[in-house]
Amino acid sequence: MTATAPSFAAAAENFFTGGERAANRNTTTFADNMKLPVHRWFRYSAGYSAEWASSLMRHWGVKRVLDPFGGSGTTCLAAQDLGVESIGVEVNPMVARIAQTKLLWAEDAEELRSRVRGVLSTAELERPVDVPTAPLIEKCFPDRDSLLDLLRIRDAVLEQRGRDNIADLLWVAFLSIIRACSPAGTAQWQYILPNKTKSKVAEPFSAFLAAGEILASDMEMRSFLLGPNHVSSTILNEDARTLNGVDDGWADAVVTSPPYANNYDYADTLRLEQILLGEIEGWKDLRSLRDALLRSATQNVGRWDAHEALESPLMAPIIDEFRPVYDELTEVRRERAGNKAYNTMLAGYFYDNAQVFQALREKTSAGAKVCYVVGDSAPYGVHAPVERWLGELAVNAGFESWSFTKARDRNTKWKNRKHTHPLHEGYLWIEG
Ligand SMILES: C[S@@+](CC[C@H](N)C(=O)[O-])C[C@H]1O[C@@H](n2cnc3c(N)ncnc32)[C@H](O)[C@@H]1O
Repeated sequence: MTATAPSFAAAAENFFTGGERAANRNTTTFADNMKLPVHRWFRYSAGYSAEWASSLMRHWGVKRVLDPFGGSGTTCLAAQDLGVESIGVEVNPMVARIAQTKLLWAEDAEELRSRVRGVLSTAELERPVDVPTAPLIEKCFPDRDSLLDLLRIRDAVLEQRGRDNIADLLWVAFLSIIRACSPAGTAQWQYILPNKTKSKVAEPFSAFLAAGEILASDMEMRSFLLGPNHVSSTILNEDARTLNGVDDGWADAVVTSPPYANNYDYADTLRLEQILLGEIEGWKDLRSLRDALLRSATQNVGRWDAHEALESPLMAPIIDEFRPVYDELTEVRRERAGNKAYNTMLAGYFYDNAQVFQALREKTSAGAKVCYVVGDSAPYGVHAPVERWLGELAVNAGFESWSFTKARDRNTKWKNRKHTHPLHEGYLWIEG
């Protein structure tokens, strides 16, 4: 099956030509969002550009947008700017909570400032604290006094948990300072790197005060810009494969970016924050989150049996092409020291995405427009034409057509790779 909607494909292509494409080079990364009010409350490396999402929704003129991989809420906030209703779905509870908290920007900024001061006064009492025993904490916070200060702020913030929306805003302010208060480096993809140090390290009390002020001033700015009658926007802590909680036929557009099949472990993204907040003790406690995530990394696959995918009718449109790739990976992995289950990962990846398209078909109206920001993949050098297979799975789910616009080349993820397969990233347009 190939692209069959000239009008829509042409419009999409047009959107990214005449300078738009060049201007949108950074569209697939979160970097530019760190300059934007509210978006910048938490740097989520997996995110994409809010300005790009806004310009697309404006171009489409849509009314209700759904983001099945909602992440830190970029699509929802961008939709709000335009008066477009939105629902974001995010399976990672902590990430969903960050996004939900960003949507609380209309709360009273002065009240937040006052409560930030209250938290710091409580933290100054120097009450005893529980220090997490995970070795990662000691590695990331070698300065014991600074760690104790950070943990006292944590306790004063957590004491307020459940009290009201301001308590959630305090929680995000705290979350946003954790890495700033550690000398440990962070990899491009948010993995914490205790062995790589950075020179500028924040002091917890002043960092929390500054974070509170950033939140409060952004709240005032956004309230001024959007006024009291802004449209509704919701983040659901649910699974993209079911989209529970979204009414059938609700959305006329989908703007999203799924995890790529590049072995990035989304469960590990916020491990430091989760340990520091006492939500998990360490690595081993990530299993249930790993099982809940889309199978885009070998760590998400666990003991899952790929035959469920290989024999599923959902995979029918691609199985003849997919099977040789699966078989090749089954062979290749035997020869590699890591013996990584990329064969199972890819089976899970396409099977899971097929389910997402089935769910999206139910939740979107006829004629809906869909944009998937996605990249292809070549684990162990075995290439998977991701956008084409996803397009075909979408059509199998009941959408009419798909096409693809490349945004940029990409070939850096598989750093220790033996292969030189060129990779790319871009926009998968689905319509119908
Ligand atoms: C590429 S990121 C999207 C980031 C988002 N565009 C933003 O700007 O913050 C993909 C997101 O999908 C989430 N995810 C993974 N599996 C999921 C699933 N089964 N259901 C819903 N979300 C899932 C990940 O936790 C991650 O936050």
